Amino acid sequence: MAKKIKGQNIESPLTKETEAPSSRKTSGRTLSYWVDSVKPAPFGKLDRNLKVDVVIVGAGISGLTTAYLLSREGKNVAVVEDGNIGSGESGRTTAHISNALDDRYSYITEILGMDKARMAAESHSQAIHIIEDIVQRENIDCDFERLKGYLFLHPSDNKKTLDDELNATQQLSIRTEMIEGVPGIPMETGPCLMFPDQATFNPIKYLDGLAAAIVRNEGKIFTNTRASKIDDSGILSENGFSIKADFIVVATNSPVNDKFAIHTKQAPYRTYVIAGLIKKGTLPHALWWDTGDQNSIWTNDPYHYVRLQNYNDEYELLIAGGEDHKTGQPNEEGLQEEDRYNNLIKWTYERFPVESIEYKWSGQVMEPVDAMAFIGKNPMDSDNVFIATGDSGNGMTHGTIAGILITDLIIGRHNPWEELYDPSRKTMKTAGDFIKENLNVAKQFKEYLTPGDVDSVKDLGPGQGAIIRSGLTKAAVYKDDEGKLFAYSAVCPHLKCILEWNGEEKTFDCPCHGSRFTCFGKVVNGPAPHDLEEIGITENGQSGSYDI
Ligand code: FES
Repeated sequence: MAKKIKGQNIESPLTKETEAPSSRKTSGRTLSYWVDSVKPAPFGKLDRNLKVDVVIVGAGISGLTTAYLLSREGKNVAVVEDGNIGSGESGRTTAHISNALDDRYSYITEILGMDKARMAAESHSQAIHIIEDIVQRENIDCDFERLKGYLFLHPSDNKKTLDDELNATQQLSIRTEMIEGVPGIPMETGPCLMFPDQATFNPIKYLDGLAAAIVRNEGKIFTNTRASKIDDSGILSENGFSIKADFIVVATNSPVNDKFAIHTKQAPYRTYVIAGLIKKGTLPHALWWDTGDQNSIWTNDPYHYVRLQNYNDEYELLIAGGEDHKTGQPNEEGLQEEDRYNNLIKWTYERFPVESIEYKWSGQVMEPVDAMAFIGKNPMDSDNVFIATGDSGNGMTHGTIAGILITDLIIGRHNPWEELYDPSRKTMKTAGDFIKENLNVAKQFKEYLTPGDVDSVKDLGPGQGAIIRSGLTKAAVYKDDEGKLFAYSAVCPHLKCILEWNGEEKTFDCPCHGSRFTCFGKVVNGPAPHDLEEIGITENGQSGSYDI
């Protein structure tokens, strides 16, 4: 039976069950089209001790591209992944493969200067070529397609933004053209900036193809294997096996081996996605982006992005995303997660002839303070430990750049992008944003003093979670569908911020650096190094036991 999304009285039946079955759960309850479209590739758990040249933690686009390119250089590689291939944020992207950076070249040129902005443009353009080359070389059936992208004005914005971007891109030798009207969106009558040479694919099919190629190159992949300890000698898995390696690469969206250095220089954001049915051939295949604010914690002008995906003989999926907010801080302007979906559905229905919504999911974006990913040697660590993080909303190209750059660093080959992406860099012109983000983190500690979401666990229905006061601190509580209560300390194991309940993904999310935990306390996003501590509480949140 058709279901309704609660919220703003929008008729938006979800014609499909969007909750992931437990075998396919990724970093939340919702199911992306990509994960639903492919059976998990059959890899096993780590079941022995190994010694390799390079061990890579994380089987998303950064980790697998690195493993693949190193395996082509003859390196003996092993990949460990705590879920399945692409089951982290790479399976929750919308896979815009683009050199039209979300942060805009006009801004990047202003803060980094012309030379570095040119390098950013070159590296993202080259990443698109490398993906295309890998698809052809390895014969990966992943719906890869070259197409155009259109940047158009958000209602809050004006043409100067597009003029500035036209000017900046042309100075950096990125092909762009200003056109009147937005192809595919008749109601958007203003000008737009067209970027040729963009691309899309199905990210899980691409990653499965990369994984198969790694195995053909005699690399090893272990899934459902959490690395519980990572140091400069290799990793130790939760089930007690080790992989010793000369080089260690941590490609886990947010680096789980870094406690401070990187987490003060990037901020986690949630982004929302819906996929609806649209009659085949209605629209040209393209990418569309508006000029809204990607970090709408600071403004209320949220950004939107759209693409198409082949679906069946009659329909395509129109995949629209946006409405971003800082992770664990959904309450700006009183908006909850479900309101974000409803706003996105409303925005999409106003612009596109979508017949019904088939999927909805959310993902995590790491926003570096200066718009460039952090790829290279892990700060304050041994020289043989590398990280890749800070996708900045361009995860497909940043992940591919990570593979190219880390491969060169390990092989000992000069790469001109090294300084641009160096995780130890400081960008003086973004000091104000750095301070603003870190003041926002400091503000989160007020949550130790505020009341909980509910006064008593009795207020929770089946399948609901909340944060409840527990003496001087707080507890994260969840009632399962049978009414059984699960209680954990709501203090994040990373740097002790108080978690927030995310009712759409059924996760406890940290508002400081983006760690996330399932409703059963299991960590699904770093930097938290381990699961939540289980506690006993009474009905009103005090220490003790609650009798169900
Ligand atoms: Fe840093 Fe929670 S992720 S305190």
